Amino acid sequence: MNKLIDKLYETCTLSPEEYKMLIDSRSPELSEYLFEKARKVRIDNYGKDVYIRGLIEFTNYCRNDCLYCGIRRSNLNAERYRLSKEQILDCCAAGYDLGFRTFVLQGGEDGYYTDEKMIDIIRTIKKNYPDCAVTLSMGEKSYETYKAFYDAGADRYLLRHETADAGHYGKLHPVTMSLETRKQCLYNLKQIGYQVGCGFMVGSPFQTTDCLVEDLQFIKELSPHMVGIGPFIPHHETPFADMKAGTLELTLFLLGMIRLILPTVLLPATTALGTIHPKGRELGILAGANVVMPNLSPTNVRKKYMLYDNKICMGDEAAECRYCLQKRMESIGYQISVTRGDHKSVL
Ligand code: 5AD
Ligand code: FES
Repeated sequence: MNKLIDKLYETCTLSPEEYKMLIDSRSPELSEYLFEKARKVRIDNYGKDVYIRGLIEFTNYCRNDCLYCGIRRSNLNAERYRLSKEQILDCCAAGYDLGFRTFVLQGGEDGYYTDEKMIDIIRTIKKNYPDCAVTLSMGEKSYETYKAFYDAGADRYLLRHETADAGHYGKLHPVTMSLETRKQCLYNLKQIGYQVGCGFMVGSPFQTTDCLVEDLQFIKELSPHMVGIGPFIPHHETPFADMKAGTLELTLFLLGMIRLILPTVLLPATTALGTIHPKGRELGILAGANVVMPNLSPTNVRKKYMLYDNKICMGDEAAECRYCLQKRMESIGYQISVTRGDHKSVL
């Protein structure tokens, strides 16, 4: 199997059968071999820098009803909140002082934030912080809306595809949503000129190795600038409450594979990974990841942005997370970079 990793390292791709074989023959030894290669590729491209993104969870209202997600519309027990423009700008100000040069505005699909309101927020952030990148993560929008946000100054957009297998997509989402629309959004974003991020959950209900093979092939085809993957973690007030969580081990293995498939990709060690294991984010970095996304949301709304159970950092101020992560990264020989942290192709 080491041969397949060598081949992936050299050619950045495998056949579907080879991907499947590699994933299914995972072992601790094979993983270590993969992570060594992934770290080499990561260090060749980005050194030992870890890029930071300040995550601002600006609304937990959502018109969608994804079966895995704690802020799905049907969860009547979720206490809903929205941040005002002023509150969002306060988060940016605090984040800027802590060295953040990327702000990620993430939220549910919330009609309250009209195009007009979003354009005003994006413009103001870019005017106040011209040296910062603005990343949006607020779901599916029309081409025109994406374009208007881009023209207002948004630099990047995160939209996980969630699974590249249409049958599997149907089991995770209500019939009102489709994989085709999701993919079209990603291609639209790319065409407009955004740095684009897709991604999926590892170990989501009904996921098979074949689904993961499709995910890897889709990622190669789209060639996004960023890929966000983290373990699925059940939320007690969703239909998937009793499902099993994804594993650390498979998530790390896929991080390593994605690093070899897209050598220069921006790859976060996600909060979900830090939630299923106390050293999850450190292990993610050691498997090839190069980004962390600490929370800048006001502490009084943190607990309300619960996509899954037991999420970490619920009571921690932005500064605490910032320095906690700095210590964690230094403990494994890496350092936080206080730059925008653009994809290599954009530098
Ligand atoms: N477990 C892990 N990740 C989740 N997400 C949503 N719900 C869960 C969950 N229960 C992820 C989705 C979404 C991102 C913002 O959070 O992949 O795109
Ligand atoms: Fe939030 Fe460690 S990253 S407390």
